[in-house]
Amino acid sequence: MGEVDPAFIQDTQHRPELAVIEAEGIPLIDLSSANASNHVSQIADACKNWGFFQVINHGVPSESRRKIEDAARKFFALPLEEKRKVSRDEVNPLGYFDTEHTKNVRDWKEVFDFVVPTPAFIPASPDPDDKELKELTNQWPQYPPELREVCEEYAREMGKLAFKLLGLISLSLGLPENRFNILFEESTNFIRLNHYPPCPIPHLALGVGRHKDSRALTILAQDDVGGLEVKRKTNGEWVRVKPTPDAFIINVGDIIQVWSNDTYESVEHRVTVNSERERFSIPVFFSPGHHVWVKPLEELTKGEKPKYRAYNWGKFFAARRRMYPMASEGRQANPVKHFVLVHGSCHGAWSWYKIVALLKSSGHKVTALDLAASGINPKQVGDLRSISWYFQPLRDFVESLPADERVVLVGHSLGGLAISQAMEKFPEKVSVAVFVTASMPGPTLNISTLNQESLRRQGPLLDSQFTYDNGPNNPPTTFSFGPLFLSLNVYQLSPTEDLALGTVLMRPVRLFIEEDMSNELMLSKKYASVKRVFIISEEDKLGKRDFQLWMIEKNPPDAVKEIKGSDHMVMISKPKELWVHLQAIAEKYS
Ligand code: OGA
Ligand code: NI
Repeated sequence: MGEVDPAFIQDTQHRPELAVIEAEGIPLIDLSSANASNHVSQIADACKNWGFFQVINHGVPSESRRKIEDAARKFFALPLEEKRKVSRDEVNPLGYFDTEHTKNVRDWKEVFDFVVPTPAFIPASPDPDDKELKELTNQWPQYPPELREVCEEYAREMGKLAFKLLGLISLSLGLPENRFNILFEESTNFIRLNHYPPCPIPHLALGVGRHKDSRALTILAQDDVGGLEVKRKTNGEWVRVKPTPDAFIINVGDIIQVWSNDTYESVEHRVTVNSERERFSIPVFFSPGHHVWVKPLEELTKGEKPKYRAYNWGKFFAARRRMYPMASEGRQANPVKHFVLVHGSCHGAWSWYKIVALLKSSGHKVTALDLAASGINPKQVGDLRSISWYFQPLRDFVESLPADERVVLVGHSLGGLAISQAMEKFPEKVSVAVFVTASMPGPTLNISTLNQESLRRQGPLLDSQFTYDNGPNNPPTTFSFGPLFLSLNVYQLSPTEDLALGTVLMRPVRLFIEEDMSNELMLSKKYASVKRVFIISEEDKLGKRDFQLWMIEKNPPDAVKEIKGSDHMVMISKPKELWVHLQAIAEKYS
């Protein structure tokens, strides 16, 4: 593969099918006035069935489009060091950028972003009480000198077209034509010039990975090369949008999806690249004013439940801007956080499957690992002489992290002991440790006391089983949950499919002698130097809420969160809630 950065390589399931069949494409709508009586119904159908359409006879002078396309070509033809003079940075999210990642994989492209109209303001911080605004400032390069002017002219034309389209969309939802206008006062629109250079590995990389546009409406000009693909709503197939000369491609973004209460959906799309021809495109992203609360429009939710809670666009944008400087969902300059997930007794890495998917979808790096003799780890339970052997996969993993990398350690149930040992041994590698209804010994709560208290509170174990591999007169050596116990006390609020899966995937857990556990879990101020959060699971019947509170009292963490309505398997019964907490914790403590 020569010199290609592996960061560009898509996971197998996201690699493009390069021989695309240009079957039936997205609808083409002729906006000329002769056709006016059909516009509204055509738009309604297109938005419902595809979320995407093309328009022709739209009234935008071809001259204006040609000028910006020429200027974009000239700009991207500059030497990299010239383009980098207007690079975006920590302070200014606008300008040139060539290392965008979508869903954690690098895009094969370079971009130039600017806002229109100016001045444009967004909240200075995501804090709801902070009323301060920050002005977004464009960075214009010296060359080509006309870039600013042609961009501004193009932006004015796009504004006219956008309001025409918003009017039609509003009518198509049965609303007055000007219903959306007020929402776009002090809008925070931005325009992006995209350049997709020829790519030596078009079957492995994408110009832009699959994503949805997070704003209200996108108007895209693509050149004659083609590469944009839209995920067809009916069958999930990727459909190529055939370039139509002079046409614009329109799609509704997440905000129209919310306003319309899901009548219109924001649809996934991506861009493929090719090894021969470079491609240029210019999307314009229309967004409401920063003060707007985005929520389903009341006129459209009569008799229906609103499907979304209101969010303040400016604050949402300010919160996301740190992670995804200008663009859409799931995009970011760098992997944000690395989460390491450690399962509980008898379980394995598999128990985190929902959280792995969710964290990855928001662009994070995730490692779910199997402790020894768990999940698909090849060791057998009888091989484990010490609890330290059980923890070894986690220790090895944390130890092997690059010197500058810090991770968010998440332990569930018995996994709390594994992460406690890792905190003690490698405190400098851990930005925060999260105990999800997990065992949490500490310098002020030794493991023997913890075990005794846990045993004292334990209810009947029903069909669960112990084995006595050292003979009947010695303490039991392994423990496994029985199916009945799992269904009544461990997975009682989880989907039945997950209970079924869990029941077949159980492996016995080794029971270690107290002296060994005490030796391996001596926790000192090294452990205590790591930030620590406990997440209470409200309806846990295995480690009940009052036992969780008891541990919190004896070994107080930096913060305590609670997830309502979850059973012991928080990651399975309340994955979204856990996902939200984990991201907020990672954001706060690292
Ligand atoms: C985007 C996008 C499509 C294209 O930048 O959000 O979807 O064809 N671009 O460049
Ligand atoms: Ni897009």
